[in-house]
Amino acid sequence: MKYLLAIETTAHTFGAAVLDFNGKILSNITDSYTTESGGMIPLEVRKHHKKVAPEVYQKALDEAGIKEDQIEAIAFSNAPGLAPCLLEGMEFVKKTAKRLNLPIIPINHCIAHLEIGETTGAKDPVLLYASGANTQVIAYEAGKYRVFGETLDLGVGNFIDTFARYAGLGFPGGPKIMKLAEQSNNLIELPYSVKGMDVAFSGLQTKLKQLLDNGEKIEDLSFSMQETVFAMLVEVAERALAHTGKKELLLGGGVACNKRLQEMCKIMCEERGAKFFCPPNSLLVDNAAMIGYLGLKMYKAGLGTKDLDSIDIKPRERTDEVTVTWK
Ligand code: ATP
Ligand code: FE2
Repeated sequence: MKYLLAIETTAHTFGAAVLDFNGKILSNITDSYTTESGGMIPLEVRKHHKKVAPEVYQKALDEAGIKEDQIEAIAFSNAPGLAPCLLEGMEFVKKTAKRLNLPIIPINHCIAHLEIGETTGAKDPVLLYASGANTQVIAYEAGKYRVFGETLDLGVGNFIDTFARYAGLGFPGGPKIMKLAEQSNNLIELPYSVKGMDVAFSGLQTKLKQLLDNGEKIEDLSFSMQETVFAMLVEVAERALAHTGKKELLLGGGVACNKRLQEMCKIMCEERGAKFFCPPNSLLVDNAAMIGYLGLKMYKAGLGTKDLDSIDIKPRERTDEVTVTWK
């Protein structure tokens, strides 16, 4: 059997995974940068990745039950993300590839978040990609992931994390806000901003900070914030389903771990006779298994290279810039 190693480092998470050539995930190890109260500082995150890399790599091999000389190719996310984090990952991957004389497959992290959704059984879905830096409604068509709508300012995860940091909750804020929201059902009216299939969060951010400063309870604000932003996301996802005539909705990205978002999407799908799909949390937040899943398809399509100098990071590459030649 042949094996593929995958490495993820685009932002807060250093991940390593091993897949066999049938696409089976044999290990999926992550170590994420977190804080108690502050935000995420890119150079500190790079240091974190450097420190944990050898151990996470070894764990991924051990859990898969293979030795490094059994690896056939290495997939890694070279785009998009925080430049210091991407560089750290690329350095680790090029060193390993040189030592073992292996080809590399560079991967767009966002496309990996989308393609891993296939493992749920969804065939031709509208995708709601809700992560830290991205919030997009997408559908695949003729060699491209087409963006129908997206955030006009910040990604929904970054929006939630920024509010959480303001409230002194640390990074990442999403899971903590979800827990706090569960303790309230007091809906405070907040700005709701949907334009066609686009959304915007900055007005809402300002309002939330003001309300917190004025002494509103964090539980009530967390609850009201979730109800408001998720209603915005569900509205644009529903519009995309209507526009494309597709009958499936697939969630992707770390914010899709949120139980309330999942529930609201499910209800919308039931009401319009569409099917709802969502991968498990371990494949929603940043992880290397999704990089390997896409890496294997691209490698089989001939997209690996041993010309290491030809590969560089692309911190700003967009989902709809990538031409899909492996499907
Ligand atoms: P991108 O994929 O756009 O480059 P990223 O890689 O930083 O961004 P992910 O790892 O996919 O993003 O997701 C991280 C985000 O998910 C964080 O903003 C985090 O707060 C959020 N998140 C994780 N769990 C939950 C949850 N239960 N509820 C809401 N948000 C959550
Ligand atoms: Fe991500």
